[in-house]
Amino acid sequence: MKVLNTIKELRSALDYSRAKGKTIGLVPTMGALHMGHSSLVELSVKQNDITVVSIFVNPTQFNDKNDLMNYPRNLEADCKLLDSLAVDIVFAPDVDEMYPEPDTRLFNFAPLDTVMEGPFRPGHFNGVAQIVSKLFYAVEPHKAYFGEKDFQQLAIIREMVKQLSLDVEIVGCPIIREMDGLALSSRNMLLTAEERQRSLLISKTLFNSLEYAKEHTLNEVKEYVENIIGNTDGFRLEYFQIVDGYTLQPLQDWDESDYIVGCIALFCGKIRLIDNIKYKEVK
Ligand code: PAF
Repeated sequence: MKVLNTIKELRSALDYSRAKGKTIGLVPTMGALHMGHSSLVELSVKQNDITVVSIFVNPTQFNDKNDLMNYPRNLEADCKLLDSLAVDIVFAPDVDEMYPEPDTRLFNFAPLDTVMEGPFRPGHFNGVAQIVSKLFYAVEPHKAYFGEKDFQQLAIIREMVKQLSLDVEIVGCPIIREMDGLALSSRNMLLTAEERQRSLLISKTLFNSLEYAKEHTLNEVKEYVENIIGNTDGFRLEYFQIVDGYTLQPLQDWDESDYIVGCIALFCGKIRLIDNIKYKEVK
């Protein structure tokens, strides 16, 4: 496994493989890797000749300086894991490499980015689009892999690919959960033992809401989740929205779409967590 730090080195390594007709899969990450990332990497390794994993904590997508500062970083352990997964190239640039000058591009993903995370994390998706598009230009992957835990991010990246006419297939991968249900996230390691215990209520409530949805209206299910999470000490609910899985717009009735997802964001202590659950999906 090669660990490369510059776009120039990355391009020359990939040009050689591309010339030989090899397919390239990209898994963009911010490091602090967990089993959720491993599942993306394993799929890429299975589906492509060459797998590139990028590790870059992208400053332009953080709207909170403390969150950026405290974001877990562990390049050595990450590389060990990726080597064991048969990754070909780890691309780990520094900030100057990715932003030799400020990226002034402004994307317009409305209405996908005006809901849910949008109002709570101004500029976040613009920063995600800046870095992911730069990674796509540098790697030119055939396929790129993203987790469905960041449900809104996945929809926005698909939209960005359309807007920029990029020739890359976006592969969405299911949420991977701890044995007790908590959705895997690099931020979980920042939870105290007590917060970690409390955080179980998030997935438990979402799963219970699936059952509740069988006999209740969409707005009743919304209230059910909002009441449990909103009234738990130590949680601060930002939103729970039940949305159309394609447009991300809030729904009023179960009949309004054939793809319906409930998305939640909350603070557990000082740590912001997100999760989602599918109420309806076209298979
Ligand atoms: O989902 C993430 O880890 C990040 O938003 C991504 C896609 C790697 C861009 O920095």
